Amino acid sequence: MKKRARPPLIEVRHSPVHGYGVFALRRIRKGTTIMEYLGDRVSHEEADARYENKDPNDNHTFLFTVDSKTVIDGGIGGNDARYINHGCDPNCESASQNKRIYVEAIKTIQPGEELAYDYQIQRDPEDPPNVDEIFACRCGAAKCRGSMLVARKKPRKKKSKIKARGGPAKKNAKKTAKKTARTAASGAAKKAAGRATSKATTRAAVKAAARKSAGEKSQAAAAVRSRRGR
Ligand SMILES: C[S@@+](CC[C@H](N)C(=O)[O-])C[C@H]1O[C@@H](n2cnc3c(N)ncnc32)[C@H](O)[C@@H]1O
Ligand SMILES: [Zn+2]
Repeated sequence: MKKRARPPLIEVRHSPVHGYGVFALRRIRKGTTIMEYLGDRVSHEEADARYENKDPNDNHTFLFTVDSKTVIDGGIGGNDARYINHGCDPNCESASQNKRIYVEAIKTIQPGEELAYDYQIQRDPEDPPNVDEIFACRCGAAKCRGSMLVARKKPRKKKSKIKARGGPAKKNAKKTAKKTARTAASGAAKKAAGRATSKATTRAAVKAAARKSAGEKSQAAAAVRSRRGR
């Protein structure tokens, strides 16, 4: 007797967040690898060249940064993963394994729920002042940070005189050391497992287009290249 195929896990349909989104059709358990982010694998230079004529105020992209060498262009040969929207309190995360990107559930997702992961788009000193407007987030989460970019770094507090002399600061120093150790440990654990949460969706195309319109195209390309080399 033939085995009956399981109904699909997800579907793509209109999203209240933006355009199309990806929705669960069945319960997806925490820890499930839902799908791979597929598409044309290109260099950063090629990705820049493909979208350099984009409107600088258009943040839409299917590009996903894998590392300093490779970008996946989900717009060419991509799959449903390219429709997963950003969320500030997401139920998924993107994980890299052997330079391939997978979307994994970090919470149990109920049927009908929209899938989202944090794009973690990095900030850059050359960002225009309205960068958070351009990358405004409409995820609707109570914890929404209002932007698809990573949160701004808080300015470091100056040490008070008492702390500098080694009074209460000792306690804080211990706390900081613990925190650093925890972060390092989780990073090492992730590396050991061969995966690390990846920065999603490059916006170099947007930046390149912005600079082009300001008539600085060649400088812009160099700046974008050097930034992407990190
Ligand atoms: C990989 S696509 C996701 C699919 C997209 N909704 C579509 O229909 O093509 C990424 C783009 O979707 C939009 N987007 C995703 N999440 C968003 C959010 N939380 N708020 C606003 N726009 C979002 C941005 O334009 C982003 O560049
Ligand atoms: Zn948000």
